[in-house]
Amino acid sequence: MELELSAAQRSARDTARRFAREKLDRIGVEADRTHRFPKEAIDELGRLGMLGTFVPEEYGGAGLDQVAYALVIEELAVACASTAVIVSAHCSLASWPILGLGTDAQKRHFLPKMASGEWLGCFALTEPLAGSDAAGQKTRAVLHGDSYVINGTKNFITNSPQSKVAIVFAMTDPGKGHKGISAFAVETDSPGWQVVRVEDKMGIHGAHSAQLSFTDLRVPRGNLLMGEGDGFKVAMKTLDGGRIGIAAQAVGIGRAALEASLKYAQERQSFGKPISQHQAIQWKLADMAVEIDAARLLTLRAASLKDAGKPCTKESAMAKLFAAEAAMKAATEAVQIHGGYGYTREFKVERYFRDAKITEIYEGTSEIQRLVIAGQVLEGNR
Ligand code: CAA
Repeated sequence: MELELSAAQRSARDTARRFAREKLDRIGVEADRTHRFPKEAIDELGRLGMLGTFVPEEYGGAGLDQVAYALVIEELAVACASTAVIVSAHCSLASWPILGLGTDAQKRHFLPKMASGEWLGCFALTEPLAGSDAAGQKTRAVLHGDSYVINGTKNFITNSPQSKVAIVFAMTDPGKGHKGISAFAVETDSPGWQVVRVEDKMGIHGAHSAQLSFTDLRVPRGNLLMGEGDGFKVAMKTLDGGRIGIAAQAVGIGRAALEASLKYAQERQSFGKPISQHQAIQWKLADMAVEIDAARLLTLRAASLKDAGKPCTKESAMAKLFAAEAAMKAATEAVQIHGGYGYTREFKVERYFRDAKITEIYEGTSEIQRLVIAGQVLEGNR
């Protein structure tokens, strides 16, 4: 693994950082308060090429790589964790399975509009009774002539109210367990697609997660991803990459918590000196800095393995697990360092605390990441 970034990776990071500081920071505060989808931010990110960072230029993307993408997500998350997850779900969970596993016709149809941001994407795997146990799909897809007809319910689907494209998972052969699941690229303006309700969440208020209902939703046969029965593999391979995006989001939230704490600790006085001069505070700041750095290194290692076309199941689970826990700890300590002020809406650390929590839950809880990592090391993938 190269520890030095290339000029193109640095440039993508710096562009994202500038956008985050100059525009997204203000939008992040407002989206959290009003629960508004930050459309103007997503539109501008489309214009900047950041909705297709790792999509090749021939499909309308920026032609960069997963390392550049992780750096971009981190910068966005420092300013607005909602925008970061909107972009991550769109890129890793909706665009990647088409790019990595789709046919040439599917790539040409979907990717240029997704890379530009004209079509936003989502990933419809989770169901009321299939969260951690993703293989327990109840949604059914039945082939009628040249179309699959899909019926079922999906839960907590990030981006779904704004999406034009969804990667939908459904059972085509319920008798076969996880080998009976298939994956489809669905256009959400097809009849039978319904957004039932948008969840009222603890954090990431700008990213809308909704329950979906499918009633005789017709999907052309040509929109099947890989073969019938390959859907579980599509989901798992996609999540290997998605977890890199969430790890990067967590690094960004943790960094925001550290930056806010560094500033506050040097301004706030107690016992006749800035609180940054008290060891109790210094130790917190030191631990936050170490863990955020370590989380970034794990994230970039997983991204560079993915760029090299190597397996990254263990490494992306490690990155996501460690970064999520580092973000939660950093946000908790940031509130503590801010004392009573940290518990008010006047300071951003209260938002970081609420936003960090979800990184330990979505795209596989921390408990699931530990299962994945244990499975890998027990198999000898050390
Ligand atoms: N890549 C390729 N194939 C994989 C794989 C991977 N990473 N992981 C597993 N597989 C394959 C296995 O090799 C096996 O294949 P065979 O049947 O051919 O041998 C098959 O999949 C089944 O594997 P397991 O027996 O390990 O499967 P399991 O049922 O025990 O489940 C699990 C494994 C890791 C717990 C999985 O269910 C899981 O990841 N659960 C969490 C689901 C999740 O992350 N959901 C997130 C939803 S999206 C979201 O959150 C988005 C958002 O809001 C932003």
